[in-house]
Amino acid sequence: MDIKILKEKFVEKYGAGDAIGYFSPGRVNLIGEHTDYNGGYVFPCALSFGAYCVIRKVNRPSFRFASLNFELEKELSLTELTTPLDGKAWVNYPLGVIAQFVKRCLTPDTGADILIYGDVPAGAGLSSSAALEVVTAVAINDVYGYNLPRLDLVKMSQKAEHEFAGVMCGIMDQFASGFGAKDKAIFLNCDTLNYELVPVVLKGAKIIVSNTHSPHKLDSGKYNERVAQCKAAVEAIKPYKPIKQLADLSVADFKTVEAKIADPVVRARARHVVTEIGRTTDAVTALKAGDLEKFGQLMNASHVSLRDDYEVTGPQLDAMAEAAWTVPGVIGSRMTGGGFGGCTVSIVKDEAIDNFKAIVGKEYEAKTGLKAEFYVAEIGDGGKRLF
Ligand code: GLA
Repeated sequence: MDIKILKEKFVEKYGAGDAIGYFSPGRVNLIGEHTDYNGGYVFPCALSFGAYCVIRKVNRPSFRFASLNFELEKELSLTELTTPLDGKAWVNYPLGVIAQFVKRCLTPDTGADILIYGDVPAGAGLSSSAALEVVTAVAINDVYGYNLPRLDLVKMSQKAEHEFAGVMCGIMDQFASGFGAKDKAIFLNCDTLNYELVPVVLKGAKIIVSNTHSPHKLDSGKYNERVAQCKAAVEAIKPYKPIKQLADLSVADFKTVEAKIADPVVRARARHVVTEIGRTTDAVTALKAGDLEKFGQLMNASHVSLRDDYEVTGPQLDAMAEAAWTVPGVIGSRMTGGGFGGCTVSIVKDEAIDNFKAIVGKEYEAKTGLKAEFYVAEIGDGGKRLF
């Protein structure tokens, strides 16, 4: 988004005067899916598209929210900042974050005018909501001079998602939006929150994000159901092995206790999580060693596990990944994010990209009746002030 246009739109909406602008990115996860809320590893990178927030403190005891993407506008008094709005109003995302400041006894002493714009394709599973939460957290923290550390802002953004959107998500998306770095992927241990920025060196290949245009529906309850199934697996294993979370099991450990999980569906869910954590560490090792082929194989295996054991892919994501696997020059391809629609992520050799778009686009449409859309991912920085 052109910053000049954003400033003009702000003035059009709220009148002339100074305003401050911030940006926070969406993310694409390279590997490590549905591992974060199990204390495992993830390997996402921040994208160059995300959410923008232009803000001006005002001498008035209320917040005004407007967006260039949605029609709904809202004015809320300083005493109304901790109650979610009815329904799925977009305002609940920034509001949910401001509520976290209030809960920490950091109630804004005066209101503000806020204009939001997002360029993450909606419903694509590229974390448009995390981008919006983190950009709000960074903006409020800065404008009101609260000086909270970045990690607190990330955790508060995750809490906003739990409390104001009802999705019991892990920390990956908000962390990637807060801590992303240009041309690096974040190898994050979601238990300790220790992380390493790993250069994404693809030697003549690019990351292609393929949008199924079948919107992912995290709030459909299926996500929270997976979270509950993982907890059930831990409870089933605990009498035999003292674990706190599924990440406490290696693949070998899991083999010795899997039979203790009576429910075959819960057992399969746990198998995905434990093997996916193994794949993620192996993939990072492969990337660091320059072994892209191995990295790609692990991506493909991740998709199969998400399809068969975790059952979060669905016909559209399967059609997209399966079509990609047939194209020469595709190093690896898998669904990314929560699943149930959204996007795949593929690593494709430069010379094969045009062919990839043509073949995958055609196959995908033939199988699903939907048009795919492709983006070459640029890995950008985490949340920051723009002006
Ligand atoms: C969503 C959640 C994340 C993570 C992914 C799956 O994006 O917000 O916390 O669980 O799904 O890996």
